[in-house]
Amino acid sequence: MVSISSTYNEKEKFLLYSGDCLKLFRQIPDNSARLIVTSPPYNLGKEYETRQPLKDYLNSFEPLIKECVRILHPRGSLCWQVGTYVRSGQIFPLDALFYPLFKKHGFRLKNRIIWHFETGLNCFKRLSGRHETVLWFTKSNDYVFNLDAIRVPRKAARKKYSQGEKKGQLMGSPLGKNPGDVWLIPKSQIEHTTHPCPYPVALMERLILAFTNTGDLVVDPYLGSGTTAIAALLHNRRCAGAERVPKYIQIIKDRLQQLENGTLKYKPLGSISSLNQRKAA
Ligand SMILES: C[S@@+](CC[C@H](N)C(=O)[O-])C[C@H]1O[C@@H](n2cnc3c(N)ncnc32)[C@H](O)[C@@H]1O
Repeated sequence: MVSISSTYNEKEKFLLYSGDCLKLFRQIPDNSARLIVTSPPYNLGKEYETRQPLKDYLNSFEPLIKECVRILHPRGSLCWQVGTYVRSGQIFPLDALFYPLFKKHGFRLKNRIIWHFETGLNCFKRLSGRHETVLWFTKSNDYVFNLDAIRVPRKAARKKYSQGEKKGQLMGSPLGKNPGDVWLIPKSQIEHTTHPCPYPVALMERLILAFTNTGDLVVDPYLGSGTTAIAALLHNRRCAGAERVPKYIQIIKDRLQQLENGTLKYKPLGSISSLNQRKAA
């Protein structure tokens, strides 16, 4: 199932490009990606990145964003998952800094999703960070949004209309409620690899189910440990992604092999959906 190739081929279920994401993107045809979803490096000096002045860091994304505009289908979505950049005891919210870069290229912000997790480093001079964000952009107002695929259970029984034509009828969808824009999705220990900053499979599952349909192409420029590819393949989407660090490529290959033979450990979206009852009342 895992094909490491230097050439994009629309027939591949999963194309793992070993190298710079821009080189992969330049091969992908216009309007062919239904979802571009990723978590880029945050300029924090992690083992896979070199810290640079904030302005240079942000400017370095310009060529990739132009490619995102070109390869994204008119009804497609782009999800940019980021946290904070920290320097000299100050935090800089990366979503606020990236927003104008995407807006400048015509992307329309649909939601700023708060991804809330309850564990992490403890701070002593400020409040401990327990959320990051996902900027969900579309190219137009005509876009794929499968709300029914991501509804969550209700806490209370459905209310009934008390007056008007619908008096006595149940309110809301029998499939559950809209999950809202605050998502409690724990960082799962069972998904741990030696990659320093993976996001959970369930976070990707919800985005992929909401914004794509079976067979669609999902593209991740910064695959890391391959979480996006796992969620895409779990739901019968195609995936193309890039990663330039060989040891992470090996992690991706191992995880995809485990997915194929049924031994991959992950926390499925279905097992955490009810947690959101507390958050999206
Ligand atoms: C924040 S991590 C992504 C983690 C990923 N979401 C996961 O769940 O594992 C960013 C990744 O981008 C990779 N990377 C950085 N610059 C890259 C580039 N120009 N092309 C391809 N990969 C790159 C890094 O090696 C790192 O693994």
